[in-house]
Amino acid sequence: MAAFHTTDELDPGQRLLVRIDVNAPIEDGEVQSTRRFERHAESIRELLDAGHALAIMAHQGRPGRDTFTGLEQHAFILSDLVGEEIEYVPSTFGEEAVEAIADLEPNPDAASAGAEDAAGDADTTGEAILLENVRMTDGELPEEPPEVKAQTEFVRTLAKAFDGYVNDGYSVAHRSHASIVGFPEVMDSYAGPVMADEYEYNTSVERREFDGDVTMVLGGTKAEDVIAAMDHLEDTVDTFLLGGVVGELFLRARGHPVGHDLEDGPDLYDENYEKNEDLIADVLDRFGDRIETPVDLAYEDENGERAEHAVVDVEEKTVSYMDIGHETVEAYRPIVEDSAAVLVKGALGVFEDERFSYGTVEVLRAAGESDAFCVVGGGDTARTVPMYDLDPAGFDHLSIAGGAYLQALTGEGLVGVDALERAAERMDG
Ligand code: 3PG
Repeated sequence: MAAFHTTDELDPGQRLLVRIDVNAPIEDGEVQSTRRFERHAESIRELLDAGHALAIMAHQGRPGRDTFTGLEQHAFILSDLVGEEIEYVPSTFGEEAVEAIADLEPNPDAASAGAEDAAGDADTTGEAILLENVRMTDGELPEEPPEVKAQTEFVRTLAKAFDGYVNDGYSVAHRSHASIVGFPEVMDSYAGPVMADEYEYNTSVERREFDGDVTMVLGGTKAEDVIAAMDHLEDTVDTFLLGGVVGELFLRARGHPVGHDLEDGPDLYDENYEKNEDLIADVLDRFGDRIETPVDLAYEDENGERAEHAVVDVEEKTVSYMDIGHETVEAYRPIVEDSAAVLVKGALGVFEDERFSYGTVEVLRAAGESDAFCVVGGGDTARTVPMYDLDPAGFDHLSIAGGAYLQALTGEGLVGVDALERAAERMDG
């Protein structure tokens, strides 16, 4: 059991500063997935029903990336899912935010007012606002120790306006940012429902013993988190099956001319490779015999169709790779089927585009249909399950976390959870 306090312990009608994680894939400025929103909407509904007034903090993307946007549409999506207006405030701790926070009204009588509302009157819940993307705020980034973050103007300004801080953002709890580790240093702090649930599940996986092989399927675009985790998973995982960006980077380390940026392609490879080259070489040296890389890759040909070629036939990378190929799926499938546990982090291809969903979907299908214990994490990867009609009953847990889930599997603590535990000690002490 975690040693943090949870929102179930709060008296009704508190003024709460709540961190959630609705960081989403964005295309042409539009949010592409509402998976995280759906989970957090349930937490928000629960907190509002307890009459709390909420100022919600979240981030989207990182400075310099195409996915770095304001949170106006996030507020619309949340309002829709919660069934109540969550007002977007285009400021995090500036005058506009401070005024909107001062106007927030908790409703300590919410629970008893529920009956009255059925009769048609009375406001039965607290109210909520969504503050601007915290990563647009001075002091949120970069990663620094909690005591440094607690001293930022951001934390000092907002901390005094609330009765408590809630962290519901398990999926960002591995980042030592102000909204994650700064507030709990100086405020009474609680884990929200998503935080408590994901924490329990993911930590239990790390502690579990499996009667057979543990296979990890690793893909997605955040290669740095994946490579760092692999370094710590040598003793836990028997076989790694790679795809996505990390698959190409390991192929490059094995001497293939892939895993490079193309002039008109995304900047996902060169910088990542240069930063992680030594670690990749070290990992390959230590347990490379347990790391499987794609034998063929899929791309879009000149007619807009899916085409594939064998990795050994590539003399120079001239196309963007969008998926692992059919031969690779045939190589990965029996490994998955014979495993006692399959832990998935990240997609093996661009599954949002049906032409390039084959690798991700077929490997997930094999995992779901096998008897293996199976967890799917990776921010967005679990979206594949409803999108391609895979049976959700085949999976033991579909996590909305990516990097945090991976880090939890390595047994390394999450700074955001540590911060909640320190706050609990202080509150109890
Ligand atoms: C995620 O999407 O995994 C979290 O929101 C963390 O985002 P980050 O990798 O940009 O810090």
